[in-house]
Amino acid sequence: MEVIEILREASKRIFENVKELAGTDNAAGDFGVGAGGDISRNIDIVAEKTVLDYLKEINFECIVLGEECGRVELSKNSKGFVIMDAIDGSANAVRGVPFFCSSLAFSTDSKLSSITDGVITDLSNGEMYWASKGKGAFFNESKIVVHDKEPIYKIIGINTSGASKDLMKRLYPIFERYNHIRHLGANALEMAFFARGLIDIFIDLRNKIRIQDIAAGYIIVKEAGGLLLDSDLRPLDSELSYEARISFVAAANQEILDEIFSQIK
Ligand code: IPD
Ligand code: CA
Repeated sequence: MEVIEILREASKRIFENVKELAGTDNAAGDFGVGAGGDISRNIDIVAEKTVLDYLKEINFECIVLGEECGRVELSKNSKGFVIMDAIDGSANAVRGVPFFCSSLAFSTDSKLSSITDGVITDLSNGEMYWASKGKGAFFNESKIVVHDKEPIYKIIGINTSGASKDLMKRLYPIFERYNHIRHLGANALEMAFFARGLIDIFIDLRNKIRIQDIAAGYIIVKEAGGLLLDSDLRPLDSELSYEARISFVAAANQEILDEIFSQIK
Protein backbone atom coordinates (compact mmCIF):
# COMPACT_ATOMS: atom_id res chain seq x y z
CA MET A 1 0.00 0.00 0.00
CA GLU A 2 1.40 3.39 -0.95
CA VAL A 3 2.03 5.91 1.82
CA ILE A 4 -0.52 8.37 0.40
CA GLU A 5 -3.20 5.65 0.51
CA ILE A 6 -2.35 4.95 4.14
CA LEU A 7 -2.69 8.64 5.06
CA ARG A 8 -5.95 8.93 3.10
CA GLU A 9 -7.45 5.90 4.80
CA ALA A 10 -6.35 7.13 8.24
CA SER A 11 -7.96 10.51 7.68
CA LYS A 12 -11.19 8.93 6.34
CA ARG A 13 -11.36 7.01 9.59
CA ILE A 14 -10.89 10.23 11.59
CA PHE A 15 -13.84 11.78 9.72
CA GLU A 16 -16.04 8.74 10.46
CA ASN A 17 -15.11 8.79 14.15
CA VAL A 18 -15.50 12.52 14.85
CA LYS A 19 -18.31 13.69 12.58
CA GLU A 20 -21.01 13.19 15.24
CA LEU A 21 -18.75 14.45 18.04
CA ALA A 22 -17.85 17.97 16.82
CA GLY A 23 -19.77 20.73 18.53
CA THR A 24 -21.07 18.48 21.36
CA ASP A 25 -20.21 18.84 25.07
CA ASN A 26 -18.40 15.53 24.80
CA ALA A 27 -15.94 17.00 22.25
CA ALA A 28 -14.52 19.35 24.86
CA GLY A 29 -13.44 16.85 27.60
CA ASP A 30 -10.11 18.05 29.06
CA PHE A 31 -7.16 15.59 28.92
CA GLY A 32 -4.50 18.01 30.18
CA VAL A 33 -1.69 19.64 28.24
CA GLY A 34 -0.55 17.68 25.17
CA ALA A 35 2.93 17.46 23.61
CA GLY A 36 2.26 20.54 21.44
CA GLY A 37 1.59 22.67 24.54
CA ASP A 38 -2.21 23.16 24.26
CA ILE A 39 -4.96 21.39 26.20
CA SER A 40 -5.87 18.08 24.54
CA ARG A 41 -9.63 17.87 24.07
CA ASN A 42 -11.59 14.64 23.84
CA ILE A 43 -12.09 15.15 20.10
CA ASP A 44 -8.28 15.48 19.66
CA ILE A 45 -7.72 12.25 21.60
CA VAL A 46 -10.41 10.29 19.70
CA ALA A 47 -8.94 11.46 16.37
CA GLU A 48 -5.32 10.64 17.31
CA LYS A 49 -6.29 7.20 18.63
CA THR A 50 -8.03 6.47 15.32
CA VAL A 51 -4.77 7.08 13.44
CA LEU A 52 -2.54 5.21 15.91
CA ASP A 53 -4.92 2.21 15.95
CA TYR A 54 -4.98 2.10 12.14
CA LEU A 55 -1.19 2.39 11.74
CA LYS A 56 -0.77 -0.44 14.27
CA GLU A 57 -3.46 -2.52 12.52
CA ILE A 58 -1.56 -2.39 9.21
CA ASN A 59 1.87 -2.63 10.89
CA PHE A 60 3.11 0.57 9.28
CA GLU A 61 6.71 0.88 10.43
CA CYS A 62 7.10 4.53 11.39
CA ILE A 63 7.57 7.08 14.13
CA VAL A 64 4.50 9.21 14.78
CA LEU A 65 4.99 12.86 15.77
CA GLY A 66 1.56 13.72 17.14
CA GLU A 67 0.44 17.11 18.39
CA GLU A 68 -1.12 15.60 21.53
CA CYS A 69 0.52 12.18 21.96
CA GLY A 70 4.08 13.31 21.21
CA ARG A 71 6.66 11.00 19.64
CA VAL A 72 5.40 7.43 19.36
CA GLU A 73 7.80 4.87 17.95
CA LEU A 74 5.65 2.21 16.25
CA SER A 75 8.71 0.31 14.99
CA LYS A 76 12.44 0.03 15.56
CA ASN A 77 12.68 -0.36 11.79
CA SER A 78 11.00 2.91 10.92
CA LYS A 79 10.56 4.01 7.28
CA GLY A 80 10.01 7.63 8.34
CA PHE A 81 7.80 10.01 10.29
CA VAL A 82 4.03 10.44 10.30
CA ILE A 83 3.44 14.05 11.34
CA MET A 84 -0.04 14.21 12.79
CA ASP A 85 -2.35 17.03 13.72
CA ALA A 86 -5.42 14.83 14.03
CA ILE A 87 -7.63 17.88 14.64
CA ASP A 88 -6.40 21.24 13.39
CA GLY A 89 -8.76 24.02 14.41
CA SER A 90 -9.67 22.38 17.72
CA ALA A 91 -11.53 25.44 19.02
CA ASN A 92 -13.78 25.41 15.93
CA ALA A 93 -14.25 21.64 16.30
CA VAL A 94 -15.24 21.92 19.94
CA ARG A 95 -17.63 24.82 19.35
CA GLY A 96 -19.07 23.32 16.15
CA VAL A 97 -17.84 26.04 13.78
CA PRO A 98 -17.60 24.00 10.54
CA PHE A 99 -13.97 24.83 9.75
CA PHE A 100 -11.58 22.23 11.12
CA CYS A 101 -9.59 19.42 9.59
CA SER A 102 -7.10 16.62 10.05
CA SER A 103 -3.55 17.03 8.80
CA LEU A 104 -1.35 13.98 8.20
CA ALA A 105 2.03 14.01 6.46
CA PHE A 106 4.84 11.54 5.86
CA SER A 107 8.50 12.48 5.85
CA THR A 108 11.53 10.31 5.13
CA ASP A 109 13.79 12.49 7.29
CA SER A 110 13.52 15.00 10.13
CA LYS A 111 12.99 18.17 8.03
CA LEU A 112 9.89 19.78 6.53
CA SER A 113 11.66 19.59 3.16
CA SER A 114 11.79 15.77 3.43
CA ILE A 115 7.99 15.51 3.38
CA THR A 116 6.81 13.31 0.53
CA ASP A 117 3.07 12.98 1.16
CA GLY A 118 0.31 14.97 2.82
CA VAL A 119 -3.44 14.73 3.35
CA ILE A 120 -5.75 17.38 4.79
CA THR A 121 -9.36 16.34 5.32
CA ASP A 122 -12.06 18.93 5.89
CA LEU A 123 -13.83 17.31 8.81
CA SER A 124 -17.00 19.36 8.35
CA ASN A 125 -17.78 17.39 5.18
CA GLY A 126 -15.09 14.73 4.52
CA GLU A 127 -13.60 16.51 1.48
CA MET A 128 -9.96 15.66 1.01
CA TYR A 129 -6.87 17.56 -0.16
CA TRP A 130 -3.79 15.44 -0.86
CA ALA A 131 -0.43 15.45 -2.59
CA SER A 132 2.66 13.34 -3.14
CA LYS A 133 6.02 14.77 -4.12
CA GLY A 134 6.32 15.23 -7.90
CA LYS A 135 2.77 13.98 -8.55
CA GLY A 136 0.66 17.13 -8.13
CA ALA A 137 -1.99 18.14 -5.61
CA PHE A 138 -5.61 17.01 -5.57
CA PHE A 139 -8.97 18.01 -4.11
CA ASN A 140 -10.96 14.78 -3.88
CA GLU A 141 -10.17 13.32 -7.35
CA SER A 142 -9.48 16.62 -9.18
CA LYS A 143 -6.06 18.16 -9.69
CA ILE A 144 -5.68 21.59 -8.06
CA VAL A 145 -3.38 24.55 -8.65
CA VAL A 146 -3.08 27.89 -6.90
CA HIS A 147 -5.00 30.89 -8.29
CA ASP A 148 -2.30 32.33 -10.52
CA LYS A 149 -4.23 35.12 -12.26
CA GLU A 150 -5.66 38.50 -11.30
CA PRO A 151 -8.61 37.60 -9.05
CA ILE A 152 -12.04 39.27 -9.16
CA TYR A 153 -11.87 39.63 -5.39
CA LYS A 154 -8.40 39.43 -3.89
CA ILE A 155 -8.75 37.20 -0.81
CA ILE A 156 -5.95 37.63 1.72
CA GLY A 157 -5.58 35.18 4.59
CA ILE A 158 -3.82 36.55 7.67
CA ASN A 159 -3.51 34.70 10.93
CA THR A 160 -3.80 37.31 13.69
CA SER A 161 -4.58 34.98 16.59
CA GLY A 162 -2.45 36.05 19.56
CA ALA A 163 -0.42 38.43 17.34
CA SER A 164 1.72 41.01 19.12
CA LYS A 165 0.96 44.74 18.96
CA ASP A 166 4.14 45.21 16.91
CA LEU A 167 3.10 42.64 14.33
CA MET A 168 -0.40 44.15 14.10
CA LYS A 169 1.22 47.56 13.48
CA ARG A 170 3.36 46.09 10.68
CA LEU A 171 0.32 44.46 9.10
CA TYR A 172 -2.00 47.46 9.52
CA PRO A 173 -1.49 48.92 6.00
CA ILE A 174 -2.90 45.69 4.56
CA PHE A 175 -5.98 45.91 6.76
CA GLU A 176 -6.44 49.52 5.74
CA ARG A 177 -6.15 48.88 2.02
CA TYR A 178 -7.85 45.52 1.36
CA ASN A 179 -11.48 44.59 1.95
CA HIS A 180 -11.35 40.80 1.88
CA ILE A 181 -9.10 39.68 4.70
CA ARG A 182 -9.84 36.26 6.19
CA HIS A 183 -8.82 34.41 9.34
CA LEU A 184 -10.71 31.13 9.55
CA GLY A 185 -9.06 29.33 12.48
CA ALA A 186 -7.49 26.13 11.11
CA ASN A 187 -4.07 26.70 9.59
CA ALA A 188 -3.92 23.44 7.61
CA LEU A 189 -7.35 23.94 6.03
CA GLU A 190 -6.48 27.54 5.17
CA MET A 191 -3.37 26.23 3.37
CA ALA A 192 -5.56 23.70 1.55
CA PHE A 193 -7.99 26.46 0.48
CA PHE A 194 -5.00 28.46 -0.73
CA ALA A 195 -3.71 25.46 -2.74
CA ARG A 196 -7.15 25.06 -4.30
CA GLY A 197 -7.06 28.68 -5.46
CA LEU A 198 -9.68 30.07 -3.06
CA ILE A 199 -7.23 32.39 -1.27
CA ASP A 200 -4.50 34.38 -3.08
CA ILE A 201 -1.98 34.80 -0.29
CA PHE A 202 -1.86 33.43 3.25
CA ILE A 203 0.35 35.10 5.84
CA ASP A 204 1.27 33.93 9.32
CA LEU A 205 4.13 35.95 10.83
CA ARG A 206 3.30 35.23 14.49
CA ASN A 207 6.08 32.65 15.02
CA LYS A 208 3.54 30.25 16.55
CA ILE A 209 2.78 27.55 13.98
CA ARG A 210 3.96 24.05 14.97
CA ILE A 211 5.27 21.48 12.51
CA GLN A 212 2.05 19.47 12.92
CA ASP A 213 -0.05 22.47 11.80
CA ILE A 214 1.96 22.93 8.62
CA ALA A 215 3.39 19.55 7.50
CA ALA A 216 0.63 18.34 5.14
CA GLY A 217 0.00 21.89 3.91
CA TYR A 218 3.69 22.15 3.04
CA ILE A 219 3.57 19.47 0.34
CA ILE A 220 0.03 20.28 -0.86
CA VAL A 221 0.88 23.97 -1.39
CA LYS A 222 4.15 23.13 -3.16
CA GLU A 223 2.56 20.55 -5.42
CA ALA A 224 -0.21 23.04 -6.27
CA GLY A 225 2.46 25.46 -7.51
CA GLY A 226 2.45 27.92 -4.61
CA LEU A 227 5.43 29.83 -3.25
CA LEU A 228 6.08 28.83 0.35
CA LEU A 229 8.51 31.12 2.16
CA ASP A 230 9.72 31.99 5.63
CA SER A 231 9.48 35.45 7.18
CA ASP A 232 12.69 36.50 5.36
CA LEU A 233 11.06 35.37 2.11
CA ARG A 234 13.44 32.43 1.71
CA PRO A 235 12.21 28.90 0.91
CA LEU A 236 10.52 27.55 4.02
CA ASP A 237 12.16 24.70 5.89
CA SER A 238 12.41 23.59 9.52
CA GLU A 239 13.54 20.72 11.67
CA LEU A 240 10.64 18.45 12.59
CA SER A 241 11.04 19.27 16.26
CA TYR A 242 8.54 19.98 19.02
CA GLU A 243 10.39 23.19 19.81
CA ALA A 244 10.05 24.66 16.29
CA ARG A 245 7.69 27.63 15.94
CA ILE A 246 7.25 28.82 12.39
CA SER A 247 6.30 31.97 10.48
CA PHE A 248 5.44 31.60 6.82
CA VAL A 249 3.78 33.02 3.76
CA ALA A 250 2.12 31.09 0.97
CA ALA A 251 1.65 33.16 -2.20
CA ALA A 252 0.12 32.27 -5.55
CA ASN A 253 2.89 34.11 -7.44
CA GLN A 254 5.72 36.63 -7.10
CA GLU A 255 3.46 39.51 -8.13
CA ILE A 256 1.03 39.22 -5.24
CA LEU A 257 3.88 38.49 -2.85
CA ASP A 258 5.65 41.72 -3.88
CA GLU A 259 2.42 43.73 -3.78
CA ILE A 260 1.47 42.65 -0.27
CA PHE A 261 4.97 42.59 1.23
CA SER A 262 5.75 46.07 -0.09
CA GLN A 263 3.17 47.25 2.46
CA ILE A 264 4.42 45.36 5.48
CA LYS A 265 6.73 47.60 7.46
C1 IPD B 1 -4.22 25.94 15.68
C2 IPD B 1 -4.88 26.38 14.39
C3 IPD B 1 -5.00 27.88 14.36
C4 IPD B 1 -3.66 28.58 14.59
C5 IPD B 1 -2.98 28.08 15.84
C6 IPD B 1 -2.86 26.58 15.82
P1 IPD B 1 -4.83 23.56 16.70
O1 IPD B 1 -4.03 24.55 15.67
O2 IPD B 1 -4.14 25.96 13.28
O3 IPD B 1 -5.51 28.32 13.11
O4 IPD B 1 -3.90 29.96 14.74
O5 IPD B 1 -1.69 28.67 15.93
O6 IPD B 1 -2.30 26.17 17.06
O7 IPD B 1 -4.34 23.90 18.07
O8 IPD B 1 -6.27 23.82 16.52
O9 IPD B 1 -4.39 22.21 16.23
CA1 CA C 1 -4.51 20.10 16.91
